[in-house]
Amino acid sequence: MTRFAIISDLHSNTEALGAVLTRLAKEGVERIVCLGDVVGYGPDPERCIDMVMENCALTLCGNHDEALMKGATDFNPVARQVIEYNRRTLKPTLLSGAARRSRWRFLEALPISHREGETLMVHGSPRDPVHEYIMKTDVIFIPDKIRDIFEHFTGMCFVGHTHFPGVFTEDLQFRDVTQLDYAYEWTGEKAIINVGSVGQPRDGDPRACCVIVEDGSVRFLRTDYDIGTVQRKIYDNPNIPDLCAARLEIGK
Ligand SMILES: [Fe+2]
Repeated sequence: MTRFAIISDLHSNTEALGAVLTRLAKEGVERIVCLGDVVGYGPDPERCIDMVMENCALTLCGNHDEALMKGATDFNPVARQVIEYNRRTLKPTLLSGAARRSRWRFLEALPISHREGETLMVHGSPRDPVHEYIMKTDVIFIPDKIRDIFEHFTGMCFVGHTHFPGVFTEDLQFRDVTQLDYAYEWTGEKAIINVGSVGQPRDGDPRACCVIVEDGSVRFLRTDYDIGTVQRKIYDNPNIPDLCAARLEIGK
């Protein structure tokens, strides 16, 4: 396996994405895979899509990307409000220019899973690639769910979706990034690796999160970015609830 980075859950946060891309360039990473949720929540969906189209070799479909096309009926009110706003500004009309059309075509065509050797990549889970959340509490409260999910893949499975980075192993353990000291060495066992979120971390650490993978070594990177600028853009936008700004500085 070659060296590459995996990012996920950018959520229209171009300050976070820009900081991560700069960091990955400094790390010498030439190939980036995105596990989806390019849009939703944040203030810059168009620019975020453009940056992904420019910089990612492969992008998968997240539930927010899918909801742009199919509707957000199962979303909470905050997430639904922003996706419906995103649809109004992103969906091409008769008079739309080429950039808007190419962004929409890109989002419409996103695949839901990708396999590369011993590595499976999805947004949510191997048994429901776009929608299912694999929560760290599931190992305690719904262990049969985790056991069944482990029946659906071999090798390493990279996911995003919960915005909570860490590693699940088949012995029903979840270890977060601090418990892992930001690194996981894969030795052939089944493992589910949550790469965390670039644009809206929810593990209490507000820094953008992603991973670099090299020959079975997974390294979690946390990158500072200009949270205040993103918050101001959200507060200035009447279509995005203020909650989407407040949560960024606490990483929740
Ligand atoms: Fe997400």
